[in-house]
Amino acid sequence: MKRPRRPLPLTRGGLVLVVLLAATALASVSVAQDGAERVGSDTCEGCHDDVVASFEDSVHWNTDPEGSCENCHGAGSAHAEEMDPSMIRLFVADTPAETRSGACVSCHGRNAEHANFRRSDHALGSVACNDCHRIHPAAEDDKPKVTPDLCYTCHADVQAQFSLNERHPVRQGGMDCVDCHDVHRATRRARLGGFKRELCLSCHNEYRGPWVFEHEASAVVGCLSCHTPHGSPNRHLLTYQRAGDLCLQCHPEQPFFHDVTETVPGDPPANTRQFRATGFNDCTRCHSEIHGSNNDALFLN
Ligand code: HEC
Ligand code: HEC
Ligand code: HEC
Ligand code: HEC
Ligand code: HEC
Ligand code: HEC
Ligand code: HEC
Ligand code: HEC
Ligand code: HEC
Ligand code: HEC
Repeated sequence: MKRPRRPLPLTRGGLVLVVLLAATALASVSVAQDGAERVGSDTCEGCHDDVVASFEDSVHWNTDPEGSCENCHGAGSAHAEEMDPSMIRLFVADTPAETRSGACVSCHGRNAEHANFRRSDHALGSVACNDCHRIHPAAEDDKPKVTPDLCYTCHADVQAQFSLNERHPVRQGGMDCVDCHDVHRATRRARLGGFKRELCLSCHNEYRGPWVFEHEASAVVGCLSCHTPHGSPNRHLLTYQRAGDLCLQCHPEQPFFHDVTETVPGDPPANTRQFRATGFNDCTRCHSEIHGSNNDALFLN
């Protein structure tokens, strides 16, 4: 099934912010291009009327028509005189990512979401704002600007994970990368949140508890101690196909415990023979309340 293409969302309720930004932007944004001065969008239009025509409806133009072009491209008097592209800020691959993003952060850095962009994995990996956002409506670019296709241009390994048999339904359009990731923030990892599971619980609330008997693996270490987030060849997105292999990562001593022949509390009485016969490795056959239980400290059913 094909995911409906979703453009990057337009501004939501940003009017107050627009006014604020517009008022403060002018003073701070003019990035001098070695002594150049601002000449105003009208001057740019004299030679780039096609660009202006396609830009006039955009949120950036509406914010500040007079200064618009130079808010991002920097003061343009030298370029306007010489018509030399190297005398104005370009947003091309060999413009350092920091310089490109710097032009955007001068305004967007005022909002908490983008203030820490330079500490994000993307900024540290030399990915700039315009590697993901297209500013000019008419700009030709071979990169898709919608998720998840946008993300796959650089994260092909993740695309492969979402093609595995067991996976979160991103390909089916049921959810999106940005449901779990905030690409702008300085978070080192996905926003796994408190006890590394708040993110997961935001959708899988039935595993939140509180339980009388918590499984510390889930409550303290987090969901990823047993599950992978994207996709897995194993059932239920587990890190191991067999429960035995999974549980023995943290409970290596248990086989010996289960190897006793005396009757243990539990129904029916368990003994070595019985464990083996019934598939000892299938831990969750008996410890079925593996995410937490209100009845049994050992998560038995
Ligand atoms: C007198 C004419 C003139 C004026 C005024 C002018 N430009 Fe240019 N600009 C050019 C020419 C010519 C080029 C080179 C076009 C090319 O190489 O395809 C250019 C190139 C550019 C480029 C690079 C385009 C590319 O494809 O690499 C940008 C960005 C740019 N101008 C922005 C501006 C801005 C912003 C202003 C207003 C501050 C402005 N220009 C004013 C003539 C002008
Ligand atoms: C919000 C920042 C921003 C504003 C405002 C802006 N530009 Fe750009 N400009 C960019 C970026 C980023 C690119 C690289 C291509 C893209 O992302 O669309 C670019 C590319 C260009 C190019 C290169 C050709 C192309 O389309 O790739 C020209 C020419 C240009 N801009 C001129 C202008 C003019 C003239 C204005 C004023 C009408 C303007 N820009 C306003 C950010 C901006
Ligand atoms: C002069 C200040 C200013 C600069 C510089 C600026 N922006 Fe904006 N931008 C705004 C304002 C104001 C809005 C509308 C309110 C909002 O969404 O924050 C906006 C909206 C946006 C949006 C929302 C989507 C949309 O089209 O409605 C994106 C994406 C964006 N800007 C990206 C960029 C990028 C990328 C750059 C750098 C190439 C940049 N901006 C530079 C002021 C600026
Ligand atoms: C790795 C790709 C990527 C980079 C780099 C990136 N963005 Fe975004 N941006 C997105 C995606 C995807 C969305 C949609 C987010 C969502 O729906 O949560 C978005 C949304 C936005 C919005 C829409 C308003 C909002 O908060 O919903 C603005 C404004 C914006 N980005 C500005 C920027 C600026 C400024 C930079 C650089 C400092 C930047 N972005 C860098 C991918 C990126
Ligand atoms: C232009 C290439 C590019 C695009 C497009 C891109 N990324 Fe990235 N991404 C990178 C680079 C480079 C890094 C930092 C190096 C690394 O850890 O792989 C990174 C890091 C990340 C990380 C953190 C990795 C870690 O080790 O913790 C996440 C999560 C991420 N990207 C998600 C996304 C999402 C979601 C999208 C789509 C909205 C996206 N990326 C689009 C290049 C890109
Ligand atoms: C269900 C939530 C969820 C969704 C949806 C999701 N991720 Fe992740 N992603 C995570 C978590 C959690 C981690 C951290 C894994 C870890 O720390 O071991 C992660 C790690 C990553 C990493 C760094 C590690 C790696 O495997 O390379 C990248 C890059 C990444 N995700 C990109 C993406 C992209 C691109 C998409 C959309 C196609 C996406 N993610 C969708 C939760 C998600
Ligand atoms: C945005 C909502 C959302 C978030 C966040 C989310 N999930 Fe999911 N998860 C889903 C959906 C939707 C499905 C598919 C359910 C289905 O197919 O019945 C799913 C399926 C699963 C499955 C497979 C269930 C099965 O029947 O095999 C596991 C395991 C899982 N998620 C674990 C996690 C973990 C761990 C996290 C945190 C890293 C997480 N989820 C975050 C929505 C989410
Ligand atoms: C100790 C390992 C472990 C931890 C930690 C763990 N799980 Fe699971 N989870 C499992 C196992 C094992 C299964 C398969 C159930 C079975 O074998 O009976 C499973 C199944 C699931 C399923 C599918 C259930 C179904 O019946 O469709 C979801 C959804 C899920 N887990 C979500 C989560 C979330 C969310 C967290 C974090 C709050 C989490 N898990 C933490 C081991 C774990
Ligand atoms: C990431 C490590 C981890 C994994 C994987 C894990 N556990 Fe645990 N488990 C713990 C911790 C920590 C405790 C509580 C501390 C303790 O007493 O050992 C615990 C407690 C238990 C208990 C309660 C008995 C006791 O000793 O307190 C049972 C039963 C149990 N786990 C079964 C399982 C089963 C079955 C699996 C596989 C589905 C599993 N665990 C996977 C870490 C883990
Ligand atoms: C046939 C059912 C059954 C299977 C299969 C099973 N267990 Fe148990 N397990 C029990 C019973 C019953 C107890 C309680 C013994 C008692 O109360 O003294 C127990 C106790 C435990 C305990 C608690 C030990 C303690 O110190 O109190 C852990 C941990 C445990 N099992 C882990 C596992 C692991 C890991 C697997 C898979 C490799 C597994 N079990 C498979 C029935 C089972």
